[in-house]
Amino acid sequence: MTGFPLAVQNSIGAIHELCCEENGGTVADYIPELGMADPADFGICITTREGFSYEVGDTRVEFTIQSISKALVYGLVLELKGAQGLSGKVNVEPSGEAFNAISLDPVTGTPKNPMINAGAIATTGQLWEFVGEESEARLLSFLSGLAGRELTIDPAVYESERDTGHRNRAISHLLRYFDILQLDPEPSLDLYFRQCSVSVTARDLSMMAATLASGGVNPDSGARVLTPETTTKVLAVMGTCGMYDYSGRWLYDVGLPAKSGVGGGVLAVAPGRIGIATYSPRLDAQGNSVRGVKACAEISARFGLNLFRQNPPINSVVRAIYSLDSRPSRKARSVQDRDALEALGKQIQILHVQGVLDFATTERLITKLLQCAAESKGVILDFRSCVDCDTGSGQMLLAQIESVLSRGVSMLVCHADACDELRTHLTSLGSEVVCESLDDALERMEDSLLRGELAESGRETSTQVSDYQFTDGELFRSLTAAQKETVSNLSKSMVTQPGDTVVTAGDAGDEFFVIARGDFGVYAPGRASSKPIRIATLTPGMTFGEAGLLFGEPRTATVISETDGLLMRLSEADLCDLRDKHPQTAFALMKCFVFSQSEKLRLTNAQVALLDAL
Ligand code: DON
Repeated sequence: MTGFPLAVQNSIGAIHELCCEENGGTVADYIPELGMADPADFGICITTREGFSYEVGDTRVEFTIQSISKALVYGLVLELKGAQGLSGKVNVEPSGEAFNAISLDPVTGTPKNPMINAGAIATTGQLWEFVGEESEARLLSFLSGLAGRELTIDPAVYESERDTGHRNRAISHLLRYFDILQLDPEPSLDLYFRQCSVSVTARDLSMMAATLASGGVNPDSGARVLTPETTTKVLAVMGTCGMYDYSGRWLYDVGLPAKSGVGGGVLAVAPGRIGIATYSPRLDAQGNSVRGVKACAEISARFGLNLFRQNPPINSVVRAIYSLDSRPSRKARSVQDRDALEALGKQIQILHVQGVLDFATTERLITKLLQCAAESKGVILDFRSCVDCDTGSGQMLLAQIESVLSRGVSMLVCHADACDELRTHLTSLGSEVVCESLDDALERMEDSLLRGELAESGRETSTQVSDYQFTDGELFRSLTAAQKETVSNLSKSMVTQPGDTVVTAGDAGDEFFVIARGDFGVYAPGRASSKPIRIATLTPGMTFGEAGLLFGEPRTATVISETDGLLMRLSEADLCDLRDKHPQTAFALMKCFVFSQSEKLRLTNAQVALLDAL
């Protein structure tokens, strides 16, 4: 069972307690029904990007969304008509005026922004004039998608507002006069009254805020409600205009996009991080919740959320830099090649990249890449721990890699599919440069070093030219010449092509194989739905399959021929024959198996040691 994060809950509880000391402000009653709210109600809710809500106080009390709907409906209309479609209908300049100011451009009639009533009625009017009778259903389903539950209109508040909303009625007719609204303004106004009367809780608002914090995807339901582009625009307008004539001070003190409503709600967003909502119906002179403003200021300050106070650790973009000699591939190599790579491997640098690639981190990464390229013969960029990249950074990175390659430095990148932008940009480098995994990249660099391909790596080729024989190498050294001949005569050969599966995980193990030619990849089955993982590449002189054969266990891994290959194989029946006719040879062969296992263990131990080191 996972424990409840009590420390998080308690720290929000402490903020709630602190804000309870604040008793200023009065409940709005210019819409008579709003005056029914209990002034003592106070709730704080914070929702994470995983959709988990921390709640303190009256977070399940229903109240009407009021002006908070303005920011959200602006998002809906942006999606329907596009920023271009709204041009001339509503601007995005802060007005510094009260929410109900009769503020229209004297010449064009365009309201300053969609957060004041004039701009909100103009925006909702676009919805009505574009969608017609379906508008209310569309609006409710949109707000419900943001909250992750079905929302409804509070009829009493709606009627109260409709019957007393003379000032808004005047504004809507002025909008009609200026042709901002092109049809009868009454249905648009009615839709505006209805959107303000949608009943919500602080928890609902918090989930809506978390949806905006997550680029428009509801973190609980996983449904996309707004595009990332629209979400960014909505947050920008909230940032500059969301708190009316308090917006400047709010941004100065709290530094978060937010929107308040006269119902007592405040919705604030820490983009990319969390959604915040408060409910307390005591309002200040600007129509913002007194406790809500204080609570958001405290949350922002205590948890370092202010957008203007961000200080991400740019240096951490390079998680580790190390050279190839300290991180060999999983390819089994001869003692001679291993020694060679220990010396040559120092010329290859691996940069393990992590986190988010934006301008600042990408600039730092590129600087490190250039340093490494100047000092080495080859560089591998490992993007395995990279979580996001913007378009501009992806382009810069691609251009820099191409430039390094053009200078003759050998470069490989792996895990270029760690995020969408990286995939988009780096795949154009082609399979010459892009490797699936770090192990692939390491192996390719090692092979290039051993073949003397990298500039001045200065080594003669070591590739095996003739097929491995039983008489060769270390593995069968404990066999006498006669015993080798006996084993050799018993074995049957098997020719393989690249991609051929020789044994499959789960199958019965009834043969063992000696590699005479070619490379063979050993793949462990991946965890559910993930691809199989290559855990080793075996080379001539190595064996596989003996454990299954000796202990009657099913195969634990799949072996695939990576190149043209030649195998010598011995079946269980051959071994029994050997044991009966040549017991000493059979015993000596067992010793060879033990040696082969210890070689594999050496490879595995080296990999395990690296897990700690990197
Ligand atoms: O237009 C009105 O009067 C209300 N329905 C909404 C006003 C509102 O919430 C202002 N916010 N602080």
